[in-house]
This record gives sequence, C-alpha cells and structure tokens, in this order.
Amino acid sequence: MTAPGALTGSSYQLRCIHCGTVGRADGSNLRCDECGNLLEVVFSDLKSRDSGTLKEIWLQRRTSYAPEDSSGVWRFRELLPNLDASHLPITLREGNTPLYELQRCAEAAGVERLLAKHQGMNPTGSFKDTGMTVAASFAHQAGFDWVACASTGNTSASMAAYAAYGGMRSLVLIPEGHITWGKLSQALDYGALTCQLKTDFDGCLKLLEQIVQRKRIYVLNSINPYRIEGQKTTAIELMEQLNWTAPDHIIVPGGNLGNSSAIGKALMEMKEAGLITSLPKLSIIQAEGANALVRTMRETGGKQLVPVQAETMATAIRIGNPASWKKAVRVLQATGGTVEEVSEVEIAIAKAEIGADGIGCEPASAVTLAGLKKLVDHGFVRRDERIVLILTGHVLKDPDFTIKFHRGDLFKDTEEIRIDRRPPIILDADPDAVLKALEQHERTAK
Ligand code: F0G
Repeated sequence: MTAPGALTGSSYQLRCIHCGTVGRADGSNLRCDECGNLLEVVFSDLKSRDSGTLKEIWLQRRTSYAPEDSSGVWRFRELLPNLDASHLPITLREGNTPLYELQRCAEAAGVERLLAKHQGMNPTGSFKDTGMTVAASFAHQAGFDWVACASTGNTSASMAAYAAYGGMRSLVLIPEGHITWGKLSQALDYGALTCQLKTDFDGCLKLLEQIVQRKRIYVLNSINPYRIEGQKTTAIELMEQLNWTAPDHIIVPGGNLGNSSAIGKALMEMKEAGLITSLPKLSIIQAEGANALVRTMRETGGKQLVPVQAETMATAIRIGNPASWKKAVRVLQATGGTVEEVSEVEIAIAKAEIGADGIGCEPASAVTLAGLKKLVDHGFVRRDERIVLILTGHVLKDPDFTIKFHRGDLFKDTEEIRIDRRPPIILDADPDAVLKALEQHERTAK
C-alpha cells in the first residue's frame, strides 16, 4: 500500500503540440511561448513500463481506503504526472464510474450490444471531476490562491467543488442565460465567485485568457494539460473494466474537445505501454448547431479550424471555437474514428431512450447514441462491433430539458418523434382514477 505523501506518479515534460518547445510546469503558461499552441504532457518511458505489474498494482489499490488509492483517477498515477512528494492530491474520490449495458438503446441503434461508461456518476455529476482533481492539485502545489474557468456549467461546478475542498478561491465565467440551473446552483453552493457574462462560452474563454495576463490566477479549463491527464483515466478504467480487451469503437460528445483528446491520448499511451494490443476507433459527435469539428474535418480535412456561431439546447456543448481542436484531429487520425453531427430532435429522442433504459444523462451526453445511429446507418459501424458510449453528465444536471421534452413543450409534435413521451398526469386522489390511467397506459404505451 502506498504511504500518504509517497505518490509514485511519472516524470514528464510539458511540450507544445505543434513545435515541441518545452513549457514551464508551474502553470504560469498554458500556451507555447514560441507559437501559441497548446501544451501537452509527454512521458518518455512508456515503452519500458511493465504492463502486467501496473495492472496488478491498480487492481490491488481497489482494496485500499487511502484517498489516493480509492480515487479512480490517482489509482492510475503511474500514467499521470507526479506531484511533489510533499503534496497530496485534492480528491473527492472521483472516477470509479460504472459501465452499463444499454439493451433498448442497442436495439434502437441497430447494434447487437451497447455499453455506456457513465462519467455523470462522478462527485459533482460530470466527467470534469476526473480532470479537475489533477489540475486543481497542481494549482495548489504551485501555490495559487485563485483558480478560474470559463464554462458551459459542468467545469464550473467541478472547479468550484475542488477549489473549495483544497482551500483555494475560484472565479467562474459563464455565458448569461445559457447554463442550466443545476450547474449554476452547484457553483454557488461550493462558494465560487460566479460572473454571468453577456457573451457565449467562446467569449468567456477569450476573456479569461486576458484576465490571467493581469492577475496571478490558475486556469482550470481543458486548455490546461493537467486536466487532460486526469480525464485520460476514464479510458484506462474502461479498459480495466473490459479486462484489458479494447472495444472496437468509443463514442464521445465533442464541445471544446478536451475530453476526446484526453481519451484518445490515453488509448495511444496504453497501446505504447503494452496495456492494450489494439487501438479502438474514437469518434466524436457534435450538435448540428455547434459543429465546428465536423466542418473542420469535412471542409479542410482537419487542417484549419472552421469556427461557428454555436446554438444548441444541449448547452454543455454550445461551443463554436473549440480550443483543443488540433489535439482532437490528431486523435481522429490516429485511431481511424470519424465525426458526426446530430439534430436537436435526434438528441432529445436519444436522451429519452437512454432514460428509458434506466440510466439517464444530460442532453450533451445523448449525442453519442444519436450519432451512433447515424454511423450504423452510414455503414461506418457494423452491427456486431463492441461499442462504448461515454456519457458525460448526470440526468439531474438539466431537469428542465427532460420535463419540457416529456410535456411536449420542447418541439411541436413532429413526425420525427416516434418515442413515448411520459408527461406527468394530474388526477383526482382516487384509486379508480389511477387504475384507469394505468390501464390506458397498458393499452397505448409501446
Ligand atoms: N458533455 C458534457 C456534459 C459537458 O459538460 C461537456 C463540456 C462536453 C460533453 C464536451 O466536452 O468540451 O471536452 O469536448 N463542458 C464544458 C464545460 C465545456 O464548461 O462544462 P469537451
């Protein structure tokens, strides 16, 4: 068992993804001093790892109650950058998320079997926690008093929680009117200084990069390479759950493109370290109204970003100028995955289908199922492939969307919506009335 204070993470360098210039590891720059591109963590010794020993150590830690072992992120610390020996991670015991079988969704998508790794089952209800524990720990180690992020809601909820738990102050910049109450309320509850700005997410991020030039504040958006490192563990844990047999295909929603970059980086590193023998395809799905990566791939082959003015009811991915687009393009090219876009109606139907399987998720996560259906239709995914959807946010993040959909307030009754909507029924407090409703339901529900 690992003694507190003796974390065995890996030594690494921060390097520019474009020109390879080595960056400073203290968080004082998130972009390359030479060319302005993003930085990434690079390990030099992946090939020399003993994969069998790593698998054993990681499994053994599941029996430990030490915070750094019971975290589903730090449990895999041999593939993470190392904190100094005197610093313990700020952990809310993130990760350790379930892998579910989606039976009805598999049928709806026309595939034999479908799995979903539910990152919404993290402490603050989204995948952001897996990256936040790492990046917040590095912020703390570097002695920052303030941390900050621009957010469509989940990053801010997560950052506020980890900052509070680690004793730092947090500044949240969010687009006014475009974040759900669930997410906003979390930032307030965890004590963040929350500023609703009259701009969109892309505007908030641009502003944040200007603010940190003027005050010593640590940026906790996914342009921070330590966020990406933590989010890698989703894929590592997934492979462990699959007994280290890689699936054929992993499907991820795309917004600012940090998560797809992280999962792709993990897949490539695991292959290099001999932890898996084949590389799954990683495909990225966006909302039609926020489809910058889809256009980038289709119109320029991934060479030049095509930014868009984003609009979608899946507010988590209402992003038009994704910061990590170059990292995501690299992942698509390395894994042979593709991009797809889905309509608002397709998102809503997929979300209701995931709910009807007893799992549930927020709208942005449901693009994965909606996208899978299209990839099967186009023949890019075969019926018998082993497919894993990454569900990124909890169903309770956006109850407004769910209630409006089932009440029929979200879309006019269109031909396209051929799914049972399940609005609440107002009845007299009378057993006969309830039984009558039940019988009618039995006659009409599919
Ligand atoms: N799903 C959910 C639930 C999200 O909150 C986000 C991003 C994504 C998918 C897309 O992930 O940006 O890494 O491509 N939310 C960010 C936020 C931007 O501020 O909470 P991505």
